[in-house]
Amino acid sequence: MPTESTSRPTSAHPLHSPDFYAGDPYPAYRELRDATPVVWNDVTNFWALTKYEDVRFVSGHPLLFSSTHGITIPDPSQPEPVQEGNLIFTDPPRHRQLRKLINAGFTRRQVSLLEPTIRRVVEDIVKGIDPSREYEFAEEIAAPLPTRMIAEMLGAPPEDWEKFRAWSDAAVGTADPDIEMDHLVALGELYEYFTELIQARRSGETAGRADLLSILAAADVDGERLTDADLLNFSFLLLVAGNETTRNLIALGTVALLDHPEQFAMLRSNPTLVTCAVEEMLRFTSPVTHMARKATADIDIRGQKIKAGDTVVMLYGAANRDEEIFGPTAEEFDITRNPNPHIAFGAGEHACLGAQLARLEARVMFEVLLGTYPSIELTGDVTRLRATMVPGVKRMPVRLGANA
Ligand code: HEM
Repeated sequence: MPTESTSRPTSAHPLHSPDFYAGDPYPAYRELRDATPVVWNDVTNFWALTKYEDVRFVSGHPLLFSSTHGITIPDPSQPEPVQEGNLIFTDPPRHRQLRKLINAGFTRRQVSLLEPTIRRVVEDIVKGIDPSREYEFAEEIAAPLPTRMIAEMLGAPPEDWEKFRAWSDAAVGTADPDIEMDHLVALGELYEYFTELIQARRSGETAGRADLLSILAAADVDGERLTDADLLNFSFLLLVAGNETTRNLIALGTVALLDHPEQFAMLRSNPTLVTCAVEEMLRFTSPVTHMARKATADIDIRGQKIKAGDTVVMLYGAANRDEEIFGPTAEEFDITRNPNPHIAFGAGEHACLGAQLARLEARVMFEVLLGTYPSIELTGDVTRLRATMVPGVKRMPVRLGANA
């Protein structure tokens, strides 16, 4: 008689491996959606879901699929540092309380008020470009925008933005080797810096300010104030969640345009397509590959018996090319796709808090960059970071030109 684990369908694709995500996982995703859409990885022990409806189902049931044990593909050699009380690792009802505290700062309306600042920051970046030299696109052009915006939203003064960027780059571990800053030193300095920002808000020095740290410092949950540790958690989460993701949407979106010259030409000749193009970049590149949950009860998905305690991984990139939702052109990059119900920002309770901000940043970046430099030429190979969750662009040498 087969044992429980051998009755689980497995796959030869190394779904636990960073190399898998840094390469081209899409042919494997297609095969899995067709043959074994709910598949068990017996190397690091998790279920992987590749169908859109299944990913939505798990996202929509946070009590049945908990975030409190971790949200990434298990890697026994590097256990995930789960921070208790951090929004992304909490389940309802606590999650709802915490999220309500900062939600107001991230609504479409509130974020739209940031457009002039975003445009100023982007114009600053683009104005600084010297077309006679080569650029590392992800690092030099895409990266500064999300970091500056988070610094601004948290309430860091503009004169500190460059420092902030160097720390946050080093803290999230993707610093350019030229930035000589040790990870722990950077984390320590960033921690100290946030602590000072928090103290200024606690002491009333910054009274009347509407930045996120001021709002959080004044907030209470069931009559209890958030602690300094809670505020630090929020600050780090926003940094980590917002920086590499948005940088890679801009970088991978640009790679998609370069790989599809007819789509790039269409966008250049009709810049009003940019909003739609950004949605397609999100779907097609899915900068965040997955989120994981832990089942809290036995449950059946497409005939597979998920046991309480099993880890379930939602593969967004696979769901975003599900032919049942996106039709026969699901594998194509089409900047006019409409409707485009992609799930690149997740769904349900934990759906990306920064979705409107990321969309706006990408839109303004493409408007200004392509308005000034309609020609982007790759001058070397694009290489990706080895990572299971955000296998970002490591190298992407480009030359920008004023004539298409
Ligand atoms: C292209 C850019 C981005 C992508 C693709 C992305 C993707 C995601 C995904 C897939 C999730 C998990 C959703 C789920 O579990 O259902 C998430 C959560 C989150 N994101 Fe983003 N994100 C992006 C940008 C940002 C930005 C700019 C910020 C903030 C500055 C941000 C803040 C967050 C936070 C705080 C969470 C946790 C929400 C919660 O647990 O309630 N993200 N994001």
